Amino acid sequence: MTKTRNPSPADVGAMYDGFDKMDVLHFGYWEDPDDETPVAEAADRLTDLVIDRLGVTAGARLLDVGCGIGTPAVRMATRTGADVLGITISGKQVQRATELAASQGLGEQVRFELADAMDMPFPDGSFDSVYALESIIHMDRPQALREMARVVRPGGRIVLTDMYDRIPAPEGQPSLIHFMTEAWMMSELIGAEDYPDLAAAAGLRLVEVMDLSEKVLWRTLRVVAHQLRAQNDALVPEQIVDRINAEEPSEALDLPSLLENSRELGCQLVVLQRD
Ligand SMILES: C[S@@+](CC[C@H](N)C(=O)[O-])C[C@H]1O[C@@H](n2cnc3c(N)ncnc32)[C@H](O)[C@@H]1O
Repeated sequence: MTKTRNPSPADVGAMYDGFDKMDVLHFGYWEDPDDETPVAEAADRLTDLVIDRLGVTAGARLLDVGCGIGTPAVRMATRTGADVLGITISGKQVQRATELAASQGLGEQVRFELADAMDMPFPDGSFDSVYALESIIHMDRPQALREMARVVRPGGRIVLTDMYDRIPAPEGQPSLIHFMTEAWMMSELIGAEDYPDLAAAAGLRLVEVMDLSEKVLWRTLRVVAHQLRAQNDALVPEQIVDRINAEEPSEALDLPSLLENSRELGCQLVVLQRD
């Protein structure tokens, strides 16, 4: 299996094809520690935060980069009336997302295709807005941002969520971030201050960076840790167990709670504009 400093799209696609038992890794938004909103509703809230920043109206053409199993795209279309095209590098996700849209009667308005976000098969300026939820983590960021900047129309917005390396591991302890990027086939993480340079290199204006570590990431990791423990280790995909060299799937179960407690990992929402 390819090592993950720059995972190949084919390897990432194969990994997601293998996740058919696992729906748990979807991020949510919780306002404060006492907020007990269920995960599906909290996930919709995060999508809504993105909708507010995209400023889309009915009939707009939206691109969802790394669309997963289609839940955010369906919410986008339902709430805004926009037409959404989702792309993913996993053929199985295209299938599941297409079934989801059809089951909601949105088969015309929301469509899905297998495509590589770093080499998109769309002409320049094809979309009014672009969003990417937790997907740029698997990509060469400069290349993915250049592609998003190319396919959005002038004046269009790009809204994404990304993870960053927040604080170093305590002296003498192994980096959980390194462990995580290996296990989940992620590109090397960036630092908290890197988006101004990344935006400029892609010819984009940075409109907003909002920290989502507390209200999104750490809380999601806690939920994921609980769900994995409550359901059982059969939910942990075999590829993950292999890549972290765990003796047992149960060792892989500890990663979300270790990450939550260490606070080494951060998450940002980033709003960009093509002027
Ligand atoms: C963590 S999932 C997020 C899914 C979805 N955005 C959500 O929030 O539920 C990452 C997604 O990025 C997609 N992805 C990763 N690398 C990709 C690439 N090079 N081109 C297209 N999609 C990619 C994966 O197929 C997967 O759908």
